[in-house]
Parts: sequence; C-alpha cells; structure tokens
Amino acid sequence: MSLRIIVALAVLTGVTGSPGVTIRPVADSADSAHPNSVPETVEETEIFGQQIQLFEEEEAEEDVMATGELNPKHYPAQRAAKVVQHYLNTRYGSPYRVFGLQRVHSGNAEDVADSRRKYQLEISVQEMIGNTTENCSAEVLFARGEQQRSAQVQASCEALLKIDTKAQEEAFYQQCKMNQSLQSAQYLPDSYGHIEPDMKPLWHLGIVASSFIMLNESTENTLYNMAQVANVTQLPTENDQLKFDYHILLHEMVSQEIIHWKLLFTWSPAEGVKVLQMEQLPHCHDCEKPPNTN
Ligand SMILES: *[C@@H]1O[C@H](CO)[C@@H](O)[C@H](O)[C@H]1NC(C)=O
Ligand SMILES: *[C@@H]1O[C@H](CO)[C@@H](O)[C@H](O)[C@H]1NC(C)=O
Ligand SMILES: *[C@@H]1O[C@H](CO)[C@@H](O)[C@H](O)[C@H]1NC(C)=O
Ligand SMILES: *[C@@H]1O[C@H](CO)[C@@H](O)[C@H](O)[C@H]1NC(C)=O
Ligand SMILES: *[C@@H]1O[C@H](CO)[C@@H](O)[C@H](O)[C@H]1NC(C)=O
Repeated sequence: MSLRIIVALAVLTGVTGSPGVTIRPVADSADSAHPNSVPETVEETEIFGQQIQLFEEEEAEEDVMATGELNPKHYPAQRAAKVVQHYLNTRYGSPYRVFGLQRVHSGNAEDVADSRRKYQLEISVQEMIGNTTENCSAEVLFARGEQQRSAQVQASCEALLKIDTKAQEEAFYQQCKMNQSLQSAQYLPDSYGHIEPDMKPLWHLGIVASSFIMLNESTENTLYNMAQVANVTQLPTENDQLKFDYHILLHEMVSQEIIHWKLLFTWSPAEGVKVLQMEQLPHCHDCEKPPNTN
C-alpha cells in the first residue's frame, strides 16, 4: 500500500493563522478534497487551542457510507465523532468550558429506519480549558436524502459536565455587563496564531456558538472546524443577557472550503448560548485574504 502524507492544520478548538493561510495540504489538494479519500490520523500534536494532525492518505478508496465496524482513525468515524463535539458545546459549552474531540476508540455504523444512518461511538472528549479528558459513549443519527433535519446526538460524558466554571463565567459576565465600553475584537487568532489572554473568553465563546452552526450543518460527509473569529462586537441589551454579533470562519475539511457565517446570539451564565440568527455569507474573495496585522 502506498501512502502519502498530507499535513493539515486541523482543530480541536481552532486553527491558527489567517483564513488565507489556514490550511495548506502538502500534497495536491484535489486529492485531499475528494470525499472518498481516507486519511488516517497517524499523529496528533496538541498545543492548547490548536491541534496539528498528520494524515496519511491511502490510495485505496473506501465507501463513503461505510457500514459495520469502522476504522476509528478513518473519516467516517471521525466525522460522526466530530458532531458529538459540536453537540456537547451547544449543550454544555461556555466561555470557560469548551469541548474537543480527542480520539475515537471504536465506531459502528448501520442503516436504520427512514433511510437514516446510526453511528455508535466510543470516544475521548477533552475539555480544552481545564484540560480534562473523559471517555464517552455516543450515538449519532444522520438523516439522509431530502430530509433537512440536523443530526441527532446522544452522549454520556458525566465527569466532563461536572467541571465547575461558574465563578469564572460570572466574573466574565460582570466584566462585560458593567464595562462602560462594549467588548469587541478582530482576528481571533491573528495570523501568527496568537490570542491576547483577555480575548480568550471571546474566542472560546465563539467556538461554542459556532458549534450550533456546525451541528446544524454537519452530515455524514462533512468535517467542520472553527477556524477564526474575523470579528466580534458586543451589542447593547435591555435585559440581563449579553448579546454578541460574531463573524466566523469555518473550515470544512472534506471540501477544504473556508465558509463565512454571521452569528447573532445571547449568552449569560444562567441561560447559556441562545442563537438568534445564523446566516451563511456569500463567498467574498476580499474576505479570504489574510488579515492585515500591521
Ligand atoms: C493535558 O493533560 C495531559 C495529561 O493529563 C498532559 O499530558 C498534557 O500535557 C496537558 N496539556 C496541556 C496543554 O496542559
Ligand atoms: C478510554 O478508553 C480507551 C479504550 O477503551 C482506554 O485505553 C483508555 O484508558 C480510556 N481512558 C480513560 C480516561 O478512561
Ligand atoms: C472594560 O473593557 C476593556 C476593553 O475590553 C478592558 O480593557 C477593561 O479592563 C474593562 N474594564 C473592566 C472594569 O472590566
Ligand atoms: C438548520 O439548518 C436547516 C437547513 O439545513 C435550516 O432550515 C434551519 O433554519 C437551520 N437552523 C437554524 C437555527 O438556523
Ligand atoms: C468582520 O469581518 C468581515 C470579514 O473580514 C468583514 O466583511 C466585516 O465587515 C467585518 N465587520 C466588522 C464590523 O468589522
């Protein structure tokens, strides 16, 4: 079997760099973009807030809709497992609690009623800020064909949910609420992969909120990661919710596309993230240029 190595900057919580330089497969990208290609994760080097995955792409092609026991390192299992990460972020995420898929231990896929597909997975999930890892069992149900329904997820990761972040959330909330000036930021991270420490809660909140988009958009054939917050603005509110307008760049790893979304949502420690509006923005070539960083 001949193997080629493709280096891709992939993500747990995000990819470094600007949208223009985010992902540069070493091998030709036409192959890596093929939905049938089967990369194998051979090594993962993790830095906080980013992850570099080395994929070994096999020449052999595998049925996209693999059924039965899955190779945990191959795309079908990885794609389904990634949806669990997004689900956990939408349910339990906060500016101080962000979940990332660490590893798939085993996976199984089968066709079920209503031409849906059911994945059963054993995975390790990492809470990125406190750096806690736990094994979770999860089930992901994808609708197919005409059905526009999002994937349905069930997951049991009890230990991760017990992490207590109330005090930090309350402090961040008060800081945003009481401050004379509304919060705003651009390019998280910047093109050097850097995020100012006091901007990290806004970056983490952006990841969590993006998971609502990624959960809604994910299918059996996609693998979404949050790439960058292009900008974020806190909006004034009359009630006790904080309100944010985010412009977000997502990276879809199968098509190698960078997709722009506008996301309007509220957050408070008590209510969590509530999405008011999500809108995919048209392709904009100016937007794809690396940001100016002086
Ligand atoms: C996270 O925890 C693991 C094991 O507990 C450790 O090996 C790793 O270095 C930690 N990572 C960070 C970024 O602190
Ligand atoms: C998670 O499961 C894997 C495989 O079953 C096992 O090797 C690993 O030790 C488990 N990790 C924890 C933290 O329980
Ligand atoms: C108000 O926000 C600014 C800008 O984000 C920040 O530098 C400052 O520390 C905040 N002030 C308080 C009291 O939190
Ligand atoms: C989720 O996506 C579907 C289409 O796939 C869309 O109809 C629905 O409005 C989306 N949900 C949200 C909250 O935008
Ligand atoms: C946010 O970033 C996007 C993409 O770079 C840009 O089109 C938009 O004008 C920016 N909005 C603000 C308020 O800076």
